[in-house]
Amino acid sequence: MKLKINLTLAVLLSLTVLVKAQNVNVTKALIPAEKQVNILLEKSEVATAGESKFMAPRTLENGQLKSVIGRDWTSGFFSGMLWYLYDLTKDPKWLDPARKFTQKLAPQQYNTGTHDLGFIIYCSFGNGYRLTGDTSYRSVIIQAAKSLSKRFNPVAGVIRSWDHNADKWQFPVIIDNMMNLELLFEATKLTGDSSFYKIAVSHANTTLKNHFRKDFSSYHVVDYNPETGAVKWRGTAQGLSNSSAWARGQAWALYGYTMCYRETKDKTYLKQAENIAKFILTNPTLPVDKVPFWDFNDPQIPNAPKDASAAAIIASGLYELSGYSKEGKNYRKTADQILNNLSEKYTSNAGANEGFILAHSTGHKPAKSEIDVPIIYADYYYLEALSRSKRGK
Ligand code: GLY
Repeated sequence: MKLKINLTLAVLLSLTVLVKAQNVNVTKALIPAEKQVNILLEKSEVATAGESKFMAPRTLENGQLKSVIGRDWTSGFFSGMLWYLYDLTKDPKWLDPARKFTQKLAPQQYNTGTHDLGFIIYCSFGNGYRLTGDTSYRSVIIQAAKSLSKRFNPVAGVIRSWDHNADKWQFPVIIDNMMNLELLFEATKLTGDSSFYKIAVSHANTTLKNHFRKDFSSYHVVDYNPETGAVKWRGTAQGLSNSSAWARGQAWALYGYTMCYRETKDKTYLKQAENIAKFILTNPTLPVDKVPFWDFNDPQIPNAPKDASAAAIIASGLYELSGYSKEGKNYRKTADQILNNLSEKYTSNAGANEGFILAHSTGHKPAKSEIDVPIIYADYYYLEALSRSKRGK
């Protein structure tokens, strides 16, 4: 009898190992990732040594490391990556650089000239606060939420995205802006002040109403009349055309509504996230490896550039969505597939690409900028997805 139980246990155990083997091997994926980020850190420290301004790595330009100043929308991703590496490895060696690159972003908490404070402050200070509980980080998050709230227009019910190109649009809102709402939800939790939460919900509801087509693909830009709240124009800036589905935009939408469901438990957001996932995952141009081309409608497909950053954001979003949806098992399986493909086929060669982890992202194809290159936010969401895969959601 005892032998029989032991045998059954042994079979169950080996089955678990078999199932696990199909999952993402986070420990294995982290070995080259850590080596690469060591290089990126070293290069970033050298590149910024004589600089009076804060600089963080963003991409490669003509094979050289390109760094950005604090107000660039991508400035918070590098410190966020350092926090994720600490989170994933528990190796204290990541703590000092994470703190250093985070702290230098502190002046941005007062920046009211960008909607990207969520990216800038929440990826850096937000992760730092989650992992260390440092109360000085808490106050930066709250101040940043106050600054971001200044861009909210109560008539239109949305936060203004861009201030540039005022000749092209009056009150532009881009789908990417969904990502910045996480900072506002957090600020309400930290302060008990519901005004941040209300702005986030208003923005999410208005975007849900105005940004999506019947097939649940998203426009990139919606321009509003700030006096009446009427939609003036729908189109794109970074996608192929006004009627196309720019891959990263769909990724932001998926991740954004999943996060809004986590924060509100409003089923409308869950349904929206599921519908967006369906658009992405059943799209005829989504390649077998599930790493999308930069725009789902590019007629050059399969010869168009890929966007590994969109894939990493989609994987991270799907892990979270898998914890909320009846389709959870499928979402998790797909997220695993994407992560495995990214780590097997899209990583930089050892020591190459100045230490960026992933190659093959596309930033702004219409501007002929950042095409098929490493980009810092691809690496950030890749590490976040690895961490979510390990956590189970
Ligand atoms: N937020 C700009 C981008 O996704 O490129």
